[in-house]
Amino acid sequence: MAQDRADTSHFGYRDVPLGDKQAMVDDVFRSVAGRYDLMNDLMSGGVHRAWKAAMIARLNPPRSKASFRLLDLAGGTGDIAFRAAQVAGPGLQAIVCDINASMLEVGRERAIKKHLDDRVSFVEGNAEQLSFADKSFDACTIAFGIRNVPRIDVALREIYRVLKPGGHFLCLEFSHVDTPGLDKLYELYSFNVIPELGRIVTGDAESYRYLVESIRKFPRPNLFAEMMGNAGFARAKWDVMSGGIVALHSGWRL
Ligand SMILES: C[S@@+](CC[C@H](N)C(=O)[O-])C[C@H]1O[C@@H](n2cnc3c(N)ncnc32)[C@H](O)[C@@H]1O
Repeated sequence: MAQDRADTSHFGYRDVPLGDKQAMVDDVFRSVAGRYDLMNDLMSGGVHRAWKAAMIARLNPPRSKASFRLLDLAGGTGDIAFRAAQVAGPGLQAIVCDINASMLEVGRERAIKKHLDDRVSFVEGNAEQLSFADKSFDACTIAFGIRNVPRIDVALREIYRVLKPGGHFLCLEFSHVDTPGLDKLYELYSFNVIPELGRIVTGDAESYRYLVESIRKFPRPNLFAEMMGNAGFARAKWDVMSGGIVALHSGWRL
């Protein structure tokens, strides 16, 4: 029984073999890549910008020329890396690493338009098997990405491996709304409005149904903090935002 559980993962509410989940996730993001940024604004009413701003404020990259290497994992179209580059000094170099070539392609075009292509680069890669050297980054961010990774514990160990001692890990992820009243409203919105928006904007309701279901399956913040601790991170803690819709997790490689 335990073995069965170890060999499956959640694709939304469906249990699928671990090996199949990544391919299904890849289909979702290939399908929505071109409209991904627009959908984020529509789905969240623009509030994802405030959540991401909170992540950058916590990252607090140096404003000086001091070298600062940031890995933005599952970085998709580059939102977090661009925001970091816009507030940081000239010493910041960000690498956006994502498994999906379609998302990265949109990101590369955005970097050129924003004149940030000299400081933000894009690399295809799997969070479970990073191609970067041990202890090579000052910080790692992952926003709305970790729940899509089939083996979260493996990815957390990889993140720990590539961080320098003193390196900061920040993870922004959807969480669980426990506020009475808001929970019902959020449920209705998530399961009715979001897939419909997805259908209208991207022609793909199913992908957005998966995204909503995967949120419900993601561990609660205390459990995720425990997983971070198991991967080696110290001082794992979190703050919830917007009544629990998202949580910002933080931990350090000491
Ligand atoms: C919801 S998007 C988040 C993009 C971006 N971080 C943001 O906040 O806008 C999730 C991203 O995770 C990526 N992803 C899924 N599985 C991955 C994996 N195993 N390794 C790296 N990236 C992965 C997807 O390709 C997708 O671009």
